Amino acid sequence: MFSGIQPTGDLHLGNLLGAVRWWVEDQRQGETFYCVVDLHALTEPGDPAELRPATLTMATWLLAAGLDPDGCTLFLQSQVPAHTQLTWLLECTASMGELRRMTQFKDKAARHGEESARVGLFTYPVLMAADILLYDADQVPVGDDQRQHLELTRELARRFNARYGPTFVVPEAAIRPPGRGNRIMDLQEPNDKMSKSSVSPQGTIYLLDDPVTIERKVKRAVTDPDDGPDAVRYDPVTKPGVSNLLEILASVQGRRPQDVAGDYTRYGPLKADLAAAVISLVEPIQAAYLKWTQDPGAVSSVLRAGAERADQVARVTLARASDAVGLVLPS
Ligand code: TYM
Repeated sequence: MFSGIQPTGDLHLGNLLGAVRWWVEDQRQGETFYCVVDLHALTEPGDPAELRPATLTMATWLLAAGLDPDGCTLFLQSQVPAHTQLTWLLECTASMGELRRMTQFKDKAARHGEESARVGLFTYPVLMAADILLYDADQVPVGDDQRQHLELTRELARRFNARYGPTFVVPEAAIRPPGRGNRIMDLQEPNDKMSKSSVSPQGTIYLLDDPVTIERKVKRAVTDPDDGPDAVRYDPVTKPGVSNLLEILASVQGRRPQDVAGDYTRYGPLKADLAAAVISLVEPIQAAYLKWTQDPGAVSSVLRAGAERADQVARVTLARASDAVGLVLPS
């Protein structure tokens, strides 16, 4: 199993419910690799002075959320050179057309204009494919927004195998079914996903938010017009606001949003219970985070051991791929 997270911005509830929680739950299912993808962060403008602390902070949050260095390999992408090396081989497998169809590239390039978009933003999904294929991952636990990138990874693996002989495992996207936290929406803009780069910080619950802030964000969450006794119902199309609240509560409680809806007739009690549930979910993670921050040496040593293990595995796959395309391996 392999998955990754960008270090840009703080960990939020969408990351936790859509991905990180499942990483923690499944970390002992075979060999598992989780990666802070710092090279992906270079695809957009950012301050070098912020990247280093942000990368270490993200690794610390992942440990606080429950990744256990004895149960999984946690590492930084830039510390394993095979990621960029395999990217080249896969760039020579991917086509311009298929990368141009990636909606994330289209959205992000549209914001500042395609002419000035970094080439790395265009080839971003190829680096992501390299991340996954290096570890022979058959499962990639991600949120719904990564579906298209996973499809591309599968396509590149199949094409490479067809062209050069069996080399890569074709991975499956382990995306939870709809309604199980795979797509948490912004509390202020329930038609957009909750994200680190949200226009309104009130719409995103961060793992470091204190209880008062969480309560306030949930209380002010946009709901839909109260249309009578069954106002609290799960219907993401006509009631995106309340459906999102139901989905978050259901995901925290391990239930179905339709079932949670049956417990409520008014928005107020739903919001009160949701705030309480989120606070209980994040409080132990915040306490663990504080503990880890008091011992930065411990985080560094986890990452050092992680990079060493990841490198051992990644090297072998890179050599297999290099051999397959006809490169002369060092003797
Ligand atoms: P990133 O850093 O945007 O997000 C990390 C994980 O969190 C999930 N996620 C969400 N899930 C539910 N609701 C939301 N609102 C929400 N927002 C984010 C994402 O789906 C993701 O699983 N390209 C990736 C990072 C990456 C990667 C990889 C992932 C690089 N290489 C290889 C898997 C495998 C990204 O930007 O995730």
